Amino acid sequence: MDNTYALEMEEITKVFPGVRALDGVTLRVKPGTVHALMGENGAGKSTLMKCLFGIYKEDGGIIKLNGSQCRFKDSHDALKSGVSMIHQELSNVPERSVAENLWLGREPLKKSLLIDHKKMNADTKELLARLEMDIKPEKRIGALSISMQQNCEIAKAVSYNSSIVVMDEPTSSLTDNEVDHLFKIIRQLRSQNVAVIYISHKMEEIFAIADEVSVMRDGKMIGTYDICDIDNNKLISLMVGRDATLRFPTFKSSIGDVCLKAEHLSAMNPRSFKDVSFELHRGEILGIGGLVGAQRTELMEAIFGVRGVSAGKISISGKEIVNMTPKKAIQNGVGMITEDRRGSGIFPLMNISANTSIASLGEYLTKLHLLNHNRLNEESRRYNEALRTKTPTMETLIQNLSGGNQQKVIISRWLMTLPDILIMDEPTRGIDVGAKYEIYQIMGQLVEQGKAIIMVSSEMPELIGMSHRVMVLCAGRCTGTLDKSECSQENIMRLATKFM
Ligand SMILES: Nc1ncnc2c1ncn2[C@@H]1O[C@H](COP(=O)(O)OP(=O)(O)OP(=O)(O)O)[C@@H](O)[C@H]1O
Ligand SMILES: [Mg+2]
Repeated sequence: MDNTYALEMEEITKVFPGVRALDGVTLRVKPGTVHALMGENGAGKSTLMKCLFGIYKEDGGIIKLNGSQCRFKDSHDALKSGVSMIHQELSNVPERSVAENLWLGREPLKKSLLIDHKKMNADTKELLARLEMDIKPEKRIGALSISMQQNCEIAKAVSYNSSIVVMDEPTSSLTDNEVDHLFKIIRQLRSQNVAVIYISHKMEEIFAIADEVSVMRDGKMIGTYDICDIDNNKLISLMVGRDATLRFPTFKSSIGDVCLKAEHLSAMNPRSFKDVSFELHRGEILGIGGLVGAQRTELMEAIFGVRGVSAGKISISGKEIVNMTPKKAIQNGVGMITEDRRGSGIFPLMNISANTSIASLGEYLTKLHLLNHNRLNEESRRYNEALRTKTPTMETLIQNLSGGNQQKVIISRWLMTLPDILIMDEPTRGIDVGAKYEIYQIMGQLVEQGKAIIMVSSEMPELIGMSHRVMVLCAGRCTGTLDKSECSQENIMRLATKFM
């Protein structure tokens, strides 16, 4: 019996209406290793893992655990057999406590067959302490920050003592420190002979943690490589199927008048941003740097009118806008691509066309106040094609797209409103390397046309590569603004940690 592999998936095929999501995919994972699974948005990574986990039933192929063939009828079955999974989307029940979420479906019972809450909370406390996570078991999970909720998912996956743990983009909402902490947990698992399958679009993470990497493209397995035998460029070209292009496009824009001015803005919440002032010019990309918790999103939400301010002034093209609301912002030519696109941006039961055009309906009224559906659909298609959204048709429901492709639809939505000022909060999070470049190109085109962009980003190379200037926040205060020539990783970090 061949028992060198913890997991063998042989020739797995899975077809959805209009898409062959998996086309004879073979993946072999050794015990006690971290195996990265890479590929562009829509390549089939999550689908493959969902077949393993019993969420989807594959149309063909076999799965073996430690050499013996198996097939899980559902995720409960998979968990019992030693396979656990952290999903790309959060899957908890917000109204329940941390402990209840962790033990959902396998709650410890008292003799009376009622749930033993005391034991459940005690077990949770012990587990979280062992993982060095500072979370209270009794707390309602919905009240925790997204990153804390993500930590709960990690704790839950670990709590099953599985021999295979799948992590599908576990770090998309974690702070740098939390990522380090997760890596510590992963290394611990590896030393206990657990096989960890790790999906991420962040190259640095792959090179930091993986032992082997398998690359998928268009539903096929391209190959499995030892991490020592591969470098960044090779990995990118394997994923996109062509030579790795430049990381950032060149664009020439002339910096014009001030189009947005913020003066001494302070948040309602005294612990949020305070006394922030800046100017944005036509033709400019202003980067906003800082660590998670620096209040960058909060500041952007105030500019867009999602949250009020306790003091300060916002002017657009020289005109002060009092009591900003999203409606007023949009009327004044401002668009905002939010950070939490999946949570707040998607209408799951609507198709891609509708999800794209929903913010620009007003622009497509005919003289008789009817919607010009043809033009609307054409334009939706054009933007999604530009971003290479991978979908069988424009009528496909958005919920059937891969995580990254859903994000591309939301980005298309805001590009289609033709905003004069576009706020982009973490624009390339969860987006594959190829599409990142497309987004950068579109940003370049926008500023060449005299539009202006504010880009909040935690990715240093992106901040440095794309911005004309970078304003850095730390603990809600502006700690400095760097010109292109002064933009270095060290300078940004120095300002981002000024009050720490
Ligand atoms: N439930 C579904 N119904 C129809 N099509 C689906 C469904 N789930 C996935 N697909 C399609 O299968 C393909 C693979 O999607 P999958 O989610 O596996 O991609 P992925 O590699 O995880 O991408 P990402 O990096 O964006 O998360 C995509 O074309 C997607 O549209
Ligand atoms: Mg996925």
